[in-house]
Amino acid sequence: MSNFLIAGNWKMNCGPSEAKQLSDDLANRWPSGSFQCEVVVSPPSISIPSAVESLEDTDIKVSAQNTHTEDSGAYTGDISTPMIKDAGCTHVIVGHSERREYYGEDNDLVAEKARKVILDDLTAIVCVGEKLDQRKKGEQEKIVMDQLDAVLNKITIDQAKSLVIAYEPVWAIGTGETASPEQAQEMHLFIRNFLKERWNEQRSSEIKILYGGSMKPANAEELLSQNDVDGGLIGGASLKEESFSGIIEIAEKLS
Ligand code: PGA
Repeated sequence: MSNFLIAGNWKMNCGPSEAKQLSDDLANRWPSGSFQCEVVVSPPSISIPSAVESLEDTDIKVSAQNTHTEDSGAYTGDISTPMIKDAGCTHVIVGHSERREYYGEDNDLVAEKARKVILDDLTAIVCVGEKLDQRKKGEQEKIVMDQLDAVLNKITIDQAKSLVIAYEPVWAIGTGETASPEQAQEMHLFIRNFLKERWNEQRSSEIKILYGGSMKPANAEELLSQNDVDGGLIGGASLKEESFSGIIEIAEKLS
């Protein structure tokens, strides 16, 4: 099994001073060389510089939560991939269900953004996942397949080296409800097979598939123990040093 990727998604939490505090706490807990897995935090864009500065001497990387398809221009309120890179980030979350739901981002736009991120030499963490009513109707695989297909159509097998997929069932995000380890594994395997059919066995096994949705120290071990779960995208539990570190510790133990 390759190294786990543990990614914190701070969403619209932690302005620059809080971000500095949380990043300083993480830096103290995880000095350079203290873990094997890959760890990423994703502050709101205004707090990226303080997180980058605080985490400078650690192995914790910094991600943006969203980006634009253009480099610059008259797009009030947006930030672009060259800016994200310039600020010191290595990753960008793309197509989070909250962006899809509240900002109308559709599969095509998400795919364009993912492509732009990858072309600019950043890693795209592309989020996919079904809503509760879709799962109740048994449509989860079709939904995830369409979301993925749009992205895979825009990138090459070589570019897929910079692709991470986060399976986040929308009904499990911020609800305290977690997909069972079996439900997570079932969908992760479906995604893995979809990648294999599109490309090949080797590339499909190299692409990390993260689980997201109410992951916390209490349930991380059983989720991360699943064969095709390569890490987590963590919202609520990434906002406290102890709970985020607790998940990193579990990933380290399982590595
Ligand atoms: P949660 O969020 O861990 O708070 O459920 C996960 C996410 O939305 O990425």
